[in-house]
Amino acid sequence: MSEFRHIPVLPEEVLELLAFAPDRPARMIDGTVGGGGHSALLLKKYPRLEVLGIDRDPAALEAAEANLAFAGDRVRLRRGEYADMGTFAGENGWDHVEGILLDIGVSSPQIDRAERGFSWRQEGPLDMRMDQSSSVTAGRILNFAPEEELARIFREYGELRSAGKLARAAVERRQKHFFGTTADLVALCDETLGRSAPGKLPLPTLVFQALRIAVNGELDQLRKGLAEGVKLLAPGGRIAVISFHSLEDRIVKEFFRTESSGCVCPPGLPVCRCGHNPSLSLPLRSRAVTASAEELERNPRSACAKLRIAVKL
Ligand SMILES: C[S@@+](CC[C@H](N)C(=O)[O-])C[C@H]1O[C@@H](n2cnc3c(N)ncnc32)[C@H](O)[C@@H]1O
Repeated sequence: MSEFRHIPVLPEEVLELLAFAPDRPARMIDGTVGGGGHSALLLKKYPRLEVLGIDRDPAALEAAEANLAFAGDRVRLRRGEYADMGTFAGENGWDHVEGILLDIGVSSPQIDRAERGFSWRQEGPLDMRMDQSSSVTAGRILNFAPEEELARIFREYGELRSAGKLARAAVERRQKHFFGTTADLVALCDETLGRSAPGKLPLPTLVFQALRIAVNGELDQLRKGLAEGVKLLAPGGRIAVISFHSLEDRIVKEFFRTESSGCVCPPGLPVCRCGHNPSLSLPLRSRAVTASAEELERNPRSACAKLRIAVKL
């Protein structure tokens, strides 16, 4: 197995906020088990905890299997999408769980391996699939998606002001040469978008983020995963979500706000028509939890991480 190095972000905060009773059995789903970093910490701290770990990426599962071997049959691993966690839980004979962790996004090994195509800083194929059995790659989208679809991806998932201009330039370029590598896309960004503004994220970061979200259907996964998670949680169970960019964090914040509200009718209606009942409470921290100065020093990749947590009513 090749080496899989990923430092779990916000480790103390996850341990503190996903608090299980130390002396009672508990079950949790780690929907993005990766190399098993967070799960290992939780399994060590809670000796009666069982974890069902899910990941799309077989390389991650291979690493998790080795890292979590110490916990024996307290761990089960499944390859797939966390949006299907209800099905995986059912197959495991679980109708509810006490905890859910989603640490969404890519792992360090996914970013660091040039051949996965996630990083604009290294030349590699335009792949970006977390699950390499899927047929949709970044190259396929760039080379074949209609111009309007490309513009939508750059605008909605990269929040790029020049989304239309970049989509037009991509279509003009691919009529002469197909996009082959990440370097081809970086060259297009440089020619079309110019320099990134000082103090802002580099523009290729946003373009790569947009394609990655499209390739992996990440925002739909998040919306479905949150809804599935709330159904599976036992009363008093906790769901913790770590996100790495504002699009994801907005979805989590909005979902938690809606699910912890009574009426969700549009403002101004004289009587409530929605009949919505809250399913979550947010008593723990109203703001997202971010990395401490000490963690930032130790693990610079924690800089964008935001943890939000809610409790099932
Ligand atoms: C940031 S890493 C998780 C690291 C893990 N918490 C640890 O401490 O080792 C994110 C992982 O989630 C996986 N992933 C992302 N979206 C997923 C989805 N929709 N379903 C299942 N796995 C997903 C990625 O393949 C990656 O391995």
